[in-house]
Amino acid sequence: MIQTTDRHASSATESSTNGKGKDPVLWNDWHVVAKGVDLQPGTLMKFRLLDTDLVVWRGEDGQVHVWADRCPHRSVRLSNGKVEGNTLVCSYHGMVYNPEGQCIKVPAHPSYPPPKQACVRTFQVRERYNLVYVCLGEPEKDVVAFPEWDESTYRCYLTGPYFIQSNGYRAIENFLDVAHFPFIHGGILGDLDKPEIEDYEVVINEAGVFAKDIRVWQPDPYGTGVGDYVIYDYWAFRPLTAYLRKYSPNGDCLTLLYNVTPISEEECVAWMSGSLNYAHSISDEEVQAFQDKIVLQDLNNLESHFPKKLPLNAPLEFHVPSDRSTLMYRKWLKQLGITYGIL
Ligand code: FES
Ligand code: FE
Repeated sequence: MIQTTDRHASSATESSTNGKGKDPVLWNDWHVVAKGVDLQPGTLMKFRLLDTDLVVWRGEDGQVHVWADRCPHRSVRLSNGKVEGNTLVCSYHGMVYNPEGQCIKVPAHPSYPPPKQACVRTFQVRERYNLVYVCLGEPEKDVVAFPEWDESTYRCYLTGPYFIQSNGYRAIENFLDVAHFPFIHGGILGDLDKPEIEDYEVVINEAGVFAKDIRVWQPDPYGTGVGDYVIYDYWAFRPLTAYLRKYSPNGDCLTLLYNVTPISEEECVAWMSGSLNYAHSISDEEVQAFQDKIVLQDLNNLESHFPKKLPLNAPLEFHVPSDRSTLMYRKWLKQLGITYGIL
């Protein structure tokens, strides 16, 4: 796994707790902030989402909380504190906050009732598919479903977090793009001798963007040493949540849910939830190593975009027919009125 927590944490310490990017579409959406297994009862971690510093903690009762990383007493980081039972204790003057974010104890004045405004800003949380999701605003929809997670015919896995010095939409576009396979993932997902991409269909509907029946030549899709075409279907369900299904005539099917969390307009963290209805004998470590390798191959280009922001309103880039999926994605983002991370 590419572990990126340190790079991420150092950037978080410099940030503000007041999100500057209150784009309502992103503000009211769900974003992954942690893997459930990385957050054991009694532990906390810090995270930065949409330029907003957060403390993510799990009480001894198993409940996860995501709060603004700021003690309302003297504005220090709550992430410097500690979890005690089902409360969070600030490191500075030891004030104790209950799961609702309300201060319930002032150690310097044991008989003093904490004022009502002694309350931390809290956010809504969901825990699904071993991922912790937070919404900074009012969620308009549920988190994007990954139904394979609970199906016994699929072998499921989770990889990441992958810290990427890239705008989140650029990361989603990279996920939707098959034309780079021969050049970046040659010998694995594509073949330099067969870089052609046939026309395919893309639509925008109430679920988002849907690109269908994209045929890609792969050198060894079935592990037999013989190349063949595989089919990809792609969905962008949310501006920063996409999903793909790759399948073959022999019935092999792979799906990937790609959650991209915007730290800022130019940095993101990606998480991949995958499922396979084959390769049940391959170890988890091998599956994870394969996914890490593919992500690593993409990093150099992903981190080199200039400008980093997505040029939705600036005529800076040219397009070819195989860009149809990303073009429709851009059209959809425009329809949604997205402004954060956009040029
Ligand atoms: Fe947190 Fe005083 S700043 S208890
Ligand atoms: Fe790639």
